[in-house]
Amino acid sequence: MPGSWIGILLIASLGLIGSCSAAAAAAAAVEYDSSAVIINGQRKIILSGSIHYPRSTVEMWSDLIQKAKEGGLDTIETYIFWNAHERRRREYNFTGNLDFVKFFQKVQEAGLYGILRIGPYACAEWNYGGFPVWLHNIPEIKFRTDNEIFKNEMQTFTTKIVNMAKEAKLFASQGGPIILAQIENEYGNVMGPYGEAGKSYVQWCAQMAVAQNIGVPWIMCQQSDAPSSVINTCNGFYCDTFTPNSPKSPKMWTENWTGWYKKWGQKDPHRTAEDLAFSVARFFQYNGVLQNYYMYYGGTNFGRTSGGPFIATSYDYDAPLDEYGNLNQPKWGHLKNLHAALKLGEKILTNSTVKTTKYSDGWVELTTYTSNIDGERLCFLSNTKMDGLDVDLQQDGKYFVPAWSVSILQDCNKETYNTAKVNVQTSLIVKKLHENDTPLKLSWEWAPEPTKAPLHGQGGFKATQLLEQKAATYDESDYLWYMTSVDNNGTASKNVTLRVKYSGQFLHAFVNGKEIGSQHGYTFTFEKPALLKPGTNIISLLSATVGLQNYGEFFDEGPEGIAGGPVELIDSGNTTTDLSSNEWSYKVGLNGEGGRFYDPTSGRAKWVSGNLRVGRAMTWYKTTFQAPSGTEPVVVDLQGMGKGHAWVNGNSLGRFWPILTADPNGCDGKCDYRGQYKEGKCLSNCGNPTQRWYHVPRSFLNNGSNTLILFEEIGGNPSDVSFQITATETICGNTYEGTTLELSCNGGRRIISDIQYASFGDPQGSSCGSFQRGSVEASRSFSAVEKACMGKESCSINVSKATFGVEDSFGVDNNRLVVQAVCT
Ligand code: GAL
Repeated sequence: MPGSWIGILLIASLGLIGSCSAAAAAAAAVEYDSSAVIINGQRKIILSGSIHYPRSTVEMWSDLIQKAKEGGLDTIETYIFWNAHERRRREYNFTGNLDFVKFFQKVQEAGLYGILRIGPYACAEWNYGGFPVWLHNIPEIKFRTDNEIFKNEMQTFTTKIVNMAKEAKLFASQGGPIILAQIENEYGNVMGPYGEAGKSYVQWCAQMAVAQNIGVPWIMCQQSDAPSSVINTCNGFYCDTFTPNSPKSPKMWTENWTGWYKKWGQKDPHRTAEDLAFSVARFFQYNGVLQNYYMYYGGTNFGRTSGGPFIATSYDYDAPLDEYGNLNQPKWGHLKNLHAALKLGEKILTNSTVKTTKYSDGWVELTTYTSNIDGERLCFLSNTKMDGLDVDLQQDGKYFVPAWSVSILQDCNKETYNTAKVNVQTSLIVKKLHENDTPLKLSWEWAPEPTKAPLHGQGGFKATQLLEQKAATYDESDYLWYMTSVDNNGTASKNVTLRVKYSGQFLHAFVNGKEIGSQHGYTFTFEKPALLKPGTNIISLLSATVGLQNYGEFFDEGPEGIAGGPVELIDSGNTTTDLSSNEWSYKVGLNGEGGRFYDPTSGRAKWVSGNLRVGRAMTWYKTTFQAPSGTEPVVVDLQGMGKGHAWVNGNSLGRFWPILTADPNGCDGKCDYRGQYKEGKCLSNCGNPTQRWYHVPRSFLNNGSNTLILFEEIGGNPSDVSFQITATETICGNTYEGTTLELSCNGGRRIISDIQYASFGDPQGSSCGSFQRGSVEASRSFSAVEKACMGKESCSINVSKATFGVEDSFGVDNNRLVVQAVCT
């Protein structure tokens, strides 16, 4: 029963893990017990957020970390992405945005702690879950089980990361920021099918990790059988009912999903600020010690890093910071206020006796934390019903607890926060042309992808079988050509059907140089009519992966590409010829990739200008452009394009696929924060391209001329491609009497230029665009707001009767101020 043992075990369970032996003076011991993480003797609750270093640029890191700090976090968490660092065996890359050491140094500079999730299996909607494909191609290897080859490689990489962190003195035990490290990732969710070997693998993981001697505790998430040398933690949308497997362990939540990821062809997922705050408050109501937002900033899957199959390039996640690093309001601010309310109670939460009492048929739960030191109290009052409820706490007062919400009561008698009452602004961020820029049609050059050789069946190597794609490409490219020849001995042309059993994700079929069809999906059978001419015919099949699978038991073994086929020809008499063991010729990657067509300095492409070629598959496009004015984040609108890959000045923006739209149904515009959230509950963007805009980090851009290069795989038209900025345009506030309304144009780049609506009283509506006058309204509503805010980047208004010059008897019990303003 959660809540029952925390006080009793407090002293008894203190387990020293850290050591401050020979390290720098600032070395900190990281210890824990069931109610606190104890850093240098200080008992703490930890508020953490995930920011994955390769999903942004080095230039963005400080700003993101600073915004996390301002949002009330004290810790930043990231995975390590093995396949990004070791693309080829023993060839390492830790430069640019792969410099995880620098990332943690920036975390420390900001005065925050770090959590290092080495994995090295990450999942994370990252290509192949973070595993390098060369690892898969080692004979006799079996991933994530008791297999010596795998364990050796995993240990080698883990040790490499640990040693780099040690050398840079990144562990708290050495004076660095890292307070926890993770080994494996959610293995407990999939381990059943691995049997006994899986169980011993878990033991080995823990042992191997602990032997690294990092001086801070190790964790394993979703691993209820984790040995006592590591702490098992929870992942999910809610973790209030989770109990660690040892009474000595603190209750930790490594992944609180702040929204969800998006796949190509799917709608945009959203999780409300109210429900996210509710889940966090419930967790701390029930003895939570550490909570991490997954993601706090999601960012972008640049290059070919997105997992899959079919994970989109944007990894926005509806996180508190959006893909571009803007504050996602009200989520960011509502959580900031929650963090402040929790941190105010930190001393009590981490050392107290806890008791829960139920009211209203059990719907309302009052949890009282009473400090073991001075008897000070902090209460959580939660209501899990879909309706609001009144509760009488006698001498501590009477409260109305809104539906599906938690109130935090300082001293147990003063509400400092309620998860369902959002008192912070909502920002509507738009993509638009910067005010100082003039609309401009880009002028394009194009170059066909050289396909002559593969369409003639000429590749780089041969095999008398249909190879699995990873085995053939080592994931050096999304693309693999499979080519063979077929003799038609007759004197006439022959109608046949080409049938390909395909394991994913995008197949183009050509016969004698002509595309006869294409299809995409997970696994499917492709079947299209084709005409065989007399004599030799060439069949060329181009297979493209769209992110390698990243999750599930034995996910690494799932085949990609044509993988064994069969590939068959069926003639009009229904005779099937199996071509699978023909001699197949192979070509890995596009010629344009080999020739670096995406790199404006490479000069290998023969660009043609004038007479723009549109709607043609396998075409490269190039244009030059000026960076949009100002400092706001930049996006490129790829409306009109089909599917492919984009680069700015040689830097990859990731895959694009704007022609693929989300299902037109299922976005009813309503998003009830009440009740259990699941991915798929609050969706938007029905019927629109899954992803029309692609982030162009400012650091990719020069002051002068910039080059955008697109590879178009299926046919598109670049005429409408344009560069825009993301800007906070409309901001809305909604704040109850007795608190302060803060409005800001987000980052000081714009000012409040118009107050579109202001009403103090009992206005109706709760979001931008929906406000209306209620039964009463202070006549100075507008002028007071205008005076406080016009022409300013940010303003704050004391929401009180005095501010609006009304009498004590004015309005209703719960007056509120709503404002809608414009930033320019
Ligand atoms: C978890 C996993 C994360 C991420 C998340 C969904 O299962 O540990 O890495 O994939 O799901 O976003």
